[in-house]
Amino acid sequence: MKPVILITGATRGIGLATAKQLAARGAQVIIGSRDAKRAAEAAAKVGSGVASVALDITDQASVDGAVKQIAQQFGRLDVLANNSAILLDHYQSLLELKPEVLLETLKTNVVGTLRVSQAFAPLLGKSEAPRIVNVSSGAGQLDGEPQAWAPAYCISKTALNMLTQQLTAALPEVMVNSMCPGWCRTEMGGDGAPRSPEEGADTLTWLALEAPHTLRGKFVKDRVVIPW
Ligand SMILES: NC(=O)c1ccc[n+]([C@@H]2O[C@H](COP(=O)([O-])OP(=O)(O)OC[C@H]3O[C@@H](n4cnc5c(N)ncnc54)[C@H](OP(=O)(O)O)[C@@H]3O)[C@@H](O)[C@H]2O)c1
Repeated sequence: MKPVILITGATRGIGLATAKQLAARGAQVIIGSRDAKRAAEAAAKVGSGVASVALDITDQASVDGAVKQIAQQFGRLDVLANNSAILLDHYQSLLELKPEVLLETLKTNVVGTLRVSQAFAPLLGKSEAPRIVNVSSGAGQLDGEPQAWAPAYCISKTALNMLTQQLTAALPEVMVNSMCPGWCRTEMGGDGAPRSPEEGADTLTWLALEAPHTLRGKFVKDRVVIPW
């Protein structure tokens, strides 16, 4: 049976590269996007049989609609890849950061991810080996020297990592992990990044399909567990 895998925010960047890798390995991929038309176009480009769903992770009605559609189409979800995120404050200093920007960032990157994970938990419960992969970032790591770059984004990714730990405790049957794709050439990462989206997608693809189900509650980069 093909694993049914939803990737949020998969019309471009690392999400799209992951969709291509997973579809090439025979998975039933579902591409999520806030824009149903862009999602359908991306799905058609990735391959025949690839599904799409309108999904705004900040909007409960949109998330509930996506759950309903996937329940009707597939009856279960094997892997939820929480890839969607925003980066609003690139080089801003923390002292100039508007609290509203932090709130908006948390609304998508943390609360949105929680909302989607809560809503899809019953469908994941119908899978024999359910997985959640949260696409985090080394920018959220507490290990190492303090950095001044993109404070709202960094704070959100640290919180996302705690969400991974909390989900691991709350969903004992689900393999939940955070991963870091590394700095990649995407709309978010920019042209100067050293990695391709495909390289960034590799660990996400591995965690979604191949990593042992015993690997739970970890932070992973390049298929290796790294410190939080
Ligand atoms: N690029 C890097 O260097 C890098 C490094 C470390 C971590 N990451 C992480 O990797 C993931 C993918 O990043 P990327 O570089 O591929 O970024 P990207 O090209 O900017 O793509 C981000 C995706 O997020 C989706 N999105 C934003 N707000 C959303 C919302 N409210 N609901 C649903 N989807 C939403 C967008 O989808 P739609 O517009 O189609 O809805 C978009 O496709 C993110 O979690 C990012 O933090 C990236």
